Amino acid sequence: MRDAFEVRTYDGAARIGELRVPRAGVTVETPALMPVVNPHVQTIEPARLESEFDAEILITNSYILHGSDDLREAALQQGLHDLLDFSGAIVTDSGSFQLAEYGEIDVTTTEILEFQREIGSDIGTPVDIPTPPDVEREQAERELATTQERLEIAEGVDVGEMLVNAPIQGSTYRDLRTQAAEHADGTSLDVFPIGAVVPLLNSYRYADIAEIVGAVKRGLGGDAPVHLFGAGHPMMFALAVAMGCDLFDSAAYALYARDERYLTVRGTEHLADLEYFPCECPVCSEHTPEQLREMDDARAERLLAEHNLHVSFGEMRRVKQAIRRGNLLELVEARARNHPTMLDGYRALLDGADRLEASDPTTKDAFFHVSTESARRPEVRRHHQRLERFDVSGDVLLASDRGALEETFDERWTVTPPFGPYPPALAETYPLNGEVPERLERQAYVAASEGIRRLVSGNPGASFTVALWDWPEDVLADLPESIDRADGF
Ligand code: GUN
Ligand code: ZN
Repeated sequence: MRDAFEVRTYDGAARIGELRVPRAGVTVETPALMPVVNPHVQTIEPARLESEFDAEILITNSYILHGSDDLREAALQQGLHDLLDFSGAIVTDSGSFQLAEYGEIDVTTTEILEFQREIGSDIGTPVDIPTPPDVEREQAERELATTQERLEIAEGVDVGEMLVNAPIQGSTYRDLRTQAAEHADGTSLDVFPIGAVVPLLNSYRYADIAEIVGAVKRGLGGDAPVHLFGAGHPMMFALAVAMGCDLFDSAAYALYARDERYLTVRGTEHLADLEYFPCECPVCSEHTPEQLREMDDARAERLLAEHNLHVSFGEMRRVKQAIRRGNLLELVEARARNHPTMLDGYRALLDGADRLEASDPTTKDAFFHVSTESARRPEVRRHHQRLERFDVSGDVLLASDRGALEETFDERWTVTPPFGPYPPALAETYPLNGEVPERLERQAYVAASEGIRRLVSGNPGASFTVALWDWPEDVLADLPESIDRADGF
């Protein structure tokens, strides 16, 4: 039984949770953004991350500390919290990323975990092997076997109260990712980072990421906290949280600032291209792009990094508020409109809607139909499944609100795209009380016709008549033949 993590609220697969970090004596609310702190170059001091940005957790690289003559001793003497001046939770990575970049590193899992414990890390990481996307299956299997051995070694290291990451690899092979997740879930380790997705993020392969996260989530218990390693761009937070990720690390805020890149929830801008700052943060309220361009480089870089952090933490708050409301997918739909590959990612997520549905609360504030993808949300699927279990008998009229007619029917059900039919008694319940535009796209009618089909097939004894004047003719023509069309009224 895992006791470090507890889910408070679900919205689809997204959740607000609490990660208890015993060594730091803190509880971190998730989804959480962990700024990456480079011990050598601190663009924004950790104390400011804590006081100005309310960062509860950060991540740094113990391999860099271990390999640095001056920092290594300082970290061992003072401890990480003192060295960095940060009282929240500190996660330490192991050097696996350097391994992936440079081909080799000179520490073992046992050495680096012991070092992490000695410097006061709150969540340590073994040396996993980040297998890149699209490699031969044989390589992915071989390297995964090594990663799994390292997790087993990590289980045997005396880490005291430090929590330990169990990175999940497997390249782009979904079955390997699921198997890796099942194995990791079976260890005594605590937090589950999904590894080696950085190349996918860099090439905007959001559909592949959705499939990998889906495959990993299938292999993990619901009480497993999931970190999407290397995901720090705010434009994808809503989507990644909707997939069920709880922790994010951002090096982007600092790396992008160094190249004069300005993060927004819709993508990345270059300082050189901006005439106005489209943002309300203190940096953007008090400066113009022109002023930043004319400043000395170090000062402009720091201000850009501050803006990048404001946007990133702001988006994470927006995501959490959406989960509380139960409308995160509406935020995801809005974000998905910013890049075609993001839309692919959202569609790939909806392809696995059964998983979203399993944890989705049955009642929320209000359902907003805002795009063609709304017709594929878990709420619509759940209503369709429910339709199979309704009992109706006699002559049943299925009518849209407009053009209502009563006549001689035994029952009259309303039909609203994308849900389909529902009995009058449910009209004011979630999600049928949702807001749907009057000018709908074809997909919404097709989804509603699926609802009709389910109701009809579950009730062979009843006879059905549809009065759906405003529906596209081709969708009506595809309805089961046993259904009568009310016309001539
Ligand atoms: N940082 C980004 N990706 C990875 C990964 O796969 N493993 C580790 N340990 N760190 C990472
Ligand atoms: Zn700003």
